[in-house]
Amino acid sequence: MEERLQKVIANSGYTSRRKAEELITKGKVLVNNKVVKELGTKVTDADEIIVNGVTLEREVKKEYYLLYKPAGYICSLSDEHNRKIITELIDTKTRIYPVGRLDYDTTGLIILTNDGELSNLLMHPTNGVEKVYRATVSPIMKIEDFLTLKNKGVTVNGRKVKPSRIKIKSKNENKNSEIIEISLIEGRNHIVKNIFKEFGSEVIKLKRERYAFLNLDGLAEGGYRELNLKEVKKLYSLKKNSK
Ligand code: URA
Repeated sequence: MEERLQKVIANSGYTSRRKAEELITKGKVLVNNKVVKELGTKVTDADEIIVNGVTLEREVKKEYYLLYKPAGYICSLSDEHNRKIITELIDTKTRIYPVGRLDYDTTGLIILTNDGELSNLLMHPTNGVEKVYRATVSPIMKIEDFLTLKNKGVTVNGRKVKPSRIKIKSKNENKNSEIIEISLIEGRNHIVKNIFKEFGSEVIKLKRERYAFLNLDGLAEGGYRELNLKEVKKLYSLKKNSK
């Protein structure tokens, strides 16, 4: 978010707004290593501000949201095709971004935050964060294929992936489709669709129901809530070797 330079300096607790203005006009403030004397210059979180020779420490408030993503939204910060983007669903002025991605047509649980450290931790495969998906798959898989996937896994784009759990929830013989619950640590793009594609089946509907210990309880499609402190701490505790 862009803000006026004197406001950013004042908000950091360095000095008052009036003093900040004085420092700026006296040429004591550098933005990205250039002296800025213009009051009202706009800066973002990405700009480095130096006041009286010292880098300004800016405390950006961390925000954490759990969103029930509807279909028809992309998980990105902008889209060249003008499609709707998931951050539009969340009422905040902070620049937040999704932790990983769900496809345009996928629904379900996604976390959004401006906490890069937590985001990296959750996406790093060694931390073993489990994601649970409910996939409607067609045609119905051969039982041998299902068992191969369950017991041995499958190679997708040259890399082996094995579900941590997988079960058939129901079958619709008329439509030649079945609902499969699949749990993965793996976080590659389109991974669920690609897994079933290896067996000649298509994922016609996909919903992420769980992310680590978090679920969608109490939320309607398009709805969201903030994570509480306990949940954020619990997510941080997923880091391996941190216990
Ligand atoms: N796997 C997929 O194929 N799509 C998603 O949106 C998430 C996981």
